[in-house]
Amino acid sequence: MTEKTTSAPPLLEVEGLTLEYGSGRRWTRVVEDVSFTLNAGETLALVGESGSGKTVSATAVLGLAGRKGGRIAEGSIRFRGRELVGLPERELRKLRGSEVSMIFQNPLRSLNPAFTAGEQVAEVARVHQGMGRKAAWARAIEMLDAVGIPDPERRARDYPHQFSGGMAQRLAIAAALCSNPSVLIADEPTTALDVTVQALVLELLRKVQSETDLSVLFISHDLGVVADVADRVVVMYAGEVVEQGPIADLFSKPAHPYTAGLLCSIPALGRGEPLRAIPGTIPPPGTLSGTCRFAERCNYREAACAEAHPVLTELTDGRATRCRRTADLVLEGITA
Ligand SMILES: Nc1ncnc2c1ncn2[C@@H]1O[C@H](COP(=O)(O)OP(=O)(O)O)[C@@H](O)[C@H]1O
Ligand SMILES: [Mg+2]
Repeated sequence: MTEKTTSAPPLLEVEGLTLEYGSGRRWTRVVEDVSFTLNAGETLALVGESGSGKTVSATAVLGLAGRKGGRIAEGSIRFRGRELVGLPERELRKLRGSEVSMIFQNPLRSLNPAFTAGEQVAEVARVHQGMGRKAAWARAIEMLDAVGIPDPERRARDYPHQFSGGMAQRLAIAAALCSNPSVLIADEPTTALDVTVQALVLELLRKVQSETDLSVLFISHDLGVVADVADRVVVMYAGEVVEQGPIADLFSKPAHPYTAGLLCSIPALGRGEPLRAIPGTIPPPGTLSGTCRFAERCNYREAACAEAHPVLTELTDGRATRCRRTADLVLEGITA
């Protein structure tokens, strides 16, 4: 296992990722020049409203963009220093479900309805860890127990649809973690759950992480959800990164008006004031160029904001923002 040291190279490095969807002669750019790194043992949150390009970016990391009619137009994705872009499917398949696992918003999407809870997890142990049937079953029970599924020996014989949403997500986490991955990609893993169950699943993820060296790419549309789990945050808007930084910093001193807007719409953290969602919607992919993509919805926009596409500018170590007004804006943050 990798040591948690700052000098260790990042586990996952995404650089200049540009994704296009479509077919034939018409391709639409849905993600543009996205870069981020994930270090061993850390949780990086990818945050942004629905449609900002979080899922397609995660899908590309797993080498699955092509399956849904997408293609990597530019960029590099390195895992432990090894380039994944252009790797044959056979090699990518070896990585998926072993070194890199994924769970989804709807836990049933991560699970096979035809197999019992125990079989799903045991299958991972057999395929990826080469265990025999008996040992794999024992490992499955152990995993169900570890993720807090009560009465694991009995529940192992139930099918996924017999589990509640929260328990099904625990089961999906057990299956995803059974291969001892070094990276878990969690795409809105608590969005479909009610608030209490959501908190329990987040607590489980935190516990797993404190006990292992797991790195988590945690995807959410809600900054409030990532507040407790993430070390660093990458904020995406309309297919590009608009701000990034360590969580405490980004919460207390947001540098981009979009981040400040997302912070205002967190009900529990927003000092009890009524929820203020950002008015307007994300522009559809491929419709904006040569302007700040957020300008239309921004309270701080000036004429110049519509005249040039701002570049992502580094502020201090690890902090960056894509707003030409950063230097003269004082945006309200939240101190947890
Ligand atoms: N298979 C696809 N074909 C065409 N466009 C897609 C496909 N998947 C996603 N998109 C587009 O890419 C953009 C980003 O989508 P997505 O990554 O799902 O957003 P998020 O996960 O942030 O909500 C959206 O505009 C969406 O319509
Ligand atoms: Mg999504």
